[in-house]
Amino acid sequence: MDGRKKYAIIVAGGSGTRMGGDLPKQFISVGGKPILRHTIERFLSLSFPVGIIVVVNQEWKEYWKKYCDDYGFLERYAIPSGGVTRFHSVQNALQYLPDNSVVAVHDGVRPFVTEEFLENMFAAGEELGNAIPALAPVETVREVNGPESYVLKRDDIRLIQTPQVFRSEVIKAAYKLPFDPAFTDDASVVEAAGYRVNLVEGIKYNIKITTPEDLELARLRLKNAAE
Ligand code: C5P
Repeated sequence: MDGRKKYAIIVAGGSGTRMGGDLPKQFISVGGKPILRHTIERFLSLSFPVGIIVVVNQEWKEYWKKYCDDYGFLERYAIPSGGVTRFHSVQNALQYLPDNSVVAVHDGVRPFVTEEFLENMFAAGEELGNAIPALAPVETVREVNGPESYVLKRDDIRLIQTPQVFRSEVIKAAYKLPFDPAFTDDASVVEAAGYRVNLVEGIKYNIKITTPEDLELARLRLKNAAE
C-alpha cells in the first residue's frame, strides 16, 4: 500500500504480576511461541512494511530483549516502557512515532487478528483519520446500578476491539489530554479531544486473552489451525 509509512504500537506494558508473580499473559507460550510474538508476527506478514513499537513493562524489558536475542526475533524495533495505565503506555510509545505516519494501536494479547483485517484497518484509518473495530454483542445486555438492572437496546450496543488505527497527528493531539479513568481505549481519548470516531466491523476471533478460559480457547484455536 502506498501513502504514509505504517507503524504498530503493540501495548504489552501490563505487569500482570497481581496473579502471584506469574508470567504476564503476553509472555505465556501458546503453540511454542509467546502470545506477544504471535501478535507481532501478524504485523510482520503484511504486504507492506510496518515499523514495530512494543511497549513492555520496565520489569520485563530484559526478559523480552533476551527472548528476542535468543530466538533472533525482531532485530529493529522501539521498546518504550509501560506506564501506570494503558493510557500512559500509549503516551510513552507516541514519542517514537514519526510525524506524517499512520499507526495501529493493538493489544499485545490479541494474537488472532488476521492480515486481511489489519490491511483493511490501515487503509480505513489512513483515509478517515481514525478507524475503530466494533462488534455487535450476541448476548442480551443489561446495565446494573446497585441492586437494580435495566435491559439495554442490544442493537444500539457495540463491543470495541483493537487495532484502532489513526493518522499520527490525530492520536498525538489527543494524547496531550490529561488522563481520565474513562480512557479504556484510544478511541475514547480521540473522541474526548473532539474527533468523531469511525466504527468498522470487527472480527469475532480477535479475542483479548484476559482470563485462564481465554488462554484455553487460544490453545485450542492454535491447535486446530496447526492440524
Ligand atoms: O488492562 P487492559 O486489559 O486494558 O490491557 C490491554 C492491553 O494493554 C494489554 O496488552 C496490556 O499489556 C496493555 N497495558 C499496558 N500498560 C498498562 C496496562 C495495560 O500496555 N499499564
